[in-house]
Amino acid sequence: MKKPVLCLAVAALSAGFTLNANAQATPGQIVSALENKFGVYPGERRNHTKGICFTGEFQATPEAAVLSRSPLFQGAVIPVTGRFSQAGGNLHIADHTPNGHGMALRFTLPDGQLHQMAMLDLPFFDVATPEGFLQKQLATTPDPATGKPDPAKIQAFKQAFPETQRLAQALAGQSRIPAGYHRLTYNSINTFILENADGQATPVRWSFIPGQDKPAYLDPEQAKSLDANYLLQALQTQLKAGDIHWNMHITLANEGDQLTDPSQPWSGAHKVIKAGTLQLQTVDTSADAACRSVNFDPLRLSDGVKASDDPVLQARSPAYAISFGKRSQEASQQQ
Ligand code: HEM
Repeated sequence: MKKPVLCLAVAALSAGFTLNANAQATPGQIVSALENKFGVYPGERRNHTKGICFTGEFQATPEAAVLSRSPLFQGAVIPVTGRFSQAGGNLHIADHTPNGHGMALRFTLPDGQLHQMAMLDLPFFDVATPEGFLQKQLATTPDPATGKPDPAKIQAFKQAFPETQRLAQALAGQSRIPAGYHRLTYNSINTFILENADGQATPVRWSFIPGQDKPAYLDPEQAKSLDANYLLQALQTQLKAGDIHWNMHITLANEGDQLTDPSQPWSGAHKVIKAGTLQLQTVDTSADAACRSVNFDPLRLSDGVKASDDPVLQARSPAYAISFGKRSQEASQQQ
């Protein structure tokens, strides 16, 4: 006999809208909600639709090999296929729109295995669950009658998912308009488990910190006059002028840190190691650039790095697969 589900849900009642924070979003519902909110650009990603492909190289430090037996961290020079992106499904979003930004990496390891990461320039995530992600898309979808999201739906969403206030407060008053993709810090946000050659497991989160110590974000007034695609120009200019690199820092969890909720930052002093350097080599704007056909599923990992039980991390893989399947089919029909 099936047991009844004990529902301790936070039910938000606001102007007639009720949201159940304990409902279980499916990956298909999430992708449909993204399509409904942003529209569909055939052959393109359903989220992080506007992006730029690049190539690079990664080399780990000896300290990283102490934590993980992955070939990624044994010190070899590893070729990288990468992609910078604007969050959301708008292919034509102007670069000076305040937004989240991504850096996705595919490492081709010496033994031929692939290892992937897809990170954001946010310190932590706004929602704790896939249901929160789904409800956010639904609440922020423009109402066809007004062309704007319904404030009552947004209010109901905030009440049902109060964790969103944490990120809102952390970012309050900050610009989210980048000076360049090369100036941003990208964070894993979700927790992963490193395993070393002795089988010792260490829960971690990581960050890619830009080598350039220059302001990451622009004053919104200053940004107004910029071209809608200035992020590509900024990358190309910096690449001609010299070096673009990031230092990978791995933060080790303290006892009691949240391992399964990406909306909770790890606060206080932590052990952090410098794990490696990512050097950007080329930016590729061609129609057949390598990253276009990559599914940067963050659960494609090599032995020595495991996913945590974070439900947001676990939901990403099937959602990316649905988006990838749709866009691959559309792309093949366009040929
Ligand atoms: C439930 C939570 C999430 C869902 C449902 C989701 C969904 C998606 C989908 C459908 C795509 C497009 C995939 C493709 O067509 O290749 C995507 C791209 C991406 N997501 Fe997520 N995402 C979630 C959370 C996150 C988080 C927590 C991060 C970062 C820590 C993140 C970073 C990215 C990045 C960087 C891309 C672009 C990858 C690329 O350039 O191909 N997402 N996401």
